[in-house]
Amino acid sequence: MTNSETLPTAQMPPARIADNKAAEKQKAAFGSHPTRYAHVVGWGMALPQKLLTNSDLARMVDTTDEWIVSRTGIRQRYVADEKESTATLATQAASNALEMAGIAPSEVDLIIVATATPEHLFPATACLVQDALGCENAGAFDLLAACTGFIYGITLGSQMIRSGANKTVLVIGAETLSRIVNWEDRATCVLFGDGAGAFVLQASDQPGGVLTSFLRSDGSGGEALSVPAGGSKLKTSYDTLRDNLHAIQMNGREVFRFATRVMASAVKTVVDEAGLTLDDIQLVVPHQANTRIIESAAEKLKIPENKFVVTLDKYGNTSSASIPIAICEAFTQGRIKPKDKLVLVGFGGGLTWGATLLEWGTATPKEQTRWNKTQRNARKFLSRLRSFSKRILRMLESAIWGRSAPSGEQPPRTK
Ligand code: UT7
Repeated sequence: MTNSETLPTAQMPPARIADNKAAEKQKAAFGSHPTRYAHVVGWGMALPQKLLTNSDLARMVDTTDEWIVSRTGIRQRYVADEKESTATLATQAASNALEMAGIAPSEVDLIIVATATPEHLFPATACLVQDALGCENAGAFDLLAACTGFIYGITLGSQMIRSGANKTVLVIGAETLSRIVNWEDRATCVLFGDGAGAFVLQASDQPGGVLTSFLRSDGSGGEALSVPAGGSKLKTSYDTLRDNLHAIQMNGREVFRFATRVMASAVKTVVDEAGLTLDDIQLVVPHQANTRIIESAAEKLKIPENKFVVTLDKYGNTSSASIPIAICEAFTQGRIKPKDKLVLVGFGGGLTWGATLLEWGTATPKEQTRWNKTQRNARKFLSRLRSFSKRILRMLESAIWGRSAPSGEQPPRTK
């Protein structure tokens, strides 16, 4: 797959069909229409319970509300408590998105969780979400592209749909950055917040949905924004803990310069590739890091600032969750209408950056009747029951077989 895709799809290489079964599936889903589009049919968000204001932070580190607001635009953020985690927030956001789309978890083919704060190195947070939601027919994986993660996720998810491989894909951006922030470092701890946002992408033969995407990276700038320890290079040790190397390290000014350089050009690229002009765009949804970065992009693009969605005053920088959360907010405020063209643009650690142009569809939140709620609760109960019985089965299997493999599958003995 190239990292640059353009409609009309007639110009795209034909989808590769692995076998006849896949071809059958495609035919059943799309009939005689060879062109398929990935539409956003559901969206949802989730926030932790606990609110942390700038004044709260001013009691923790040497900072002021005035400094934070004037340098970043942030007024408050939400932080996870011990019971909340990246997986619980991701599950909640995804469940809200599925619910509003009226789609059952069993219909989901693929779950992509973009996150820089996964629950564990493995298993993937996406697998935990799969289990919690009861998406019994879905593949699941995590994607790490820091704050650009949602743009990468939506690009991959839409390509899976357009290739014919999948029909329904959940793309989630979820973070608990509060867990990797050094709460004594005033230069970073005031910036970040926790939260999650999710999209349900679904195949359609109606033109629209994700139109073009553009992804880029520059690893030479990786040190500008990183968590140095805990991976294969620097394993956890007394020294890494003492030196706070498991927390976010950032050269703020360098990231600032990089962001203002790449944002405008990424927006222009996806608009050009779609054969549109900036005047055709109703809304720009940027990664929420700093209002000054957003203002600079607006100025460079000569787009009025009121066409940009800004939510960082309420949520801070929630990394890969910031764009889907901003879209949920904009929709609730009535700022997004059917057929509107939106550009989503992100940048972050890696360094990575990218943009996606999408045409909003006609999906509206499904009415939540008592019957819907009962169904949802029944589904939740059933997926917990299914997960629990699978665990019990595994325990029984272990008790019966011990550590040996089933007969006929014994590994060869080595001397
Ligand atoms: O998702 C991507 C992640 N990161 C970003 O997008 C960050 C991009 N960068 C930024 O948004 C800005 O660079 C910051 C908001 C991080 C910093 O703003 P700045 O205008 O670049 O400030 P600065 O780093 O140049 O620091 C200016 C002064 C320094 O004091 P001196 O050296 O001038 O005496 C800092 O020590 O502000 C001081 N400072 C603070 N003062 C009060 C730094 N943090 C704080 C603070 N409260 N929280």
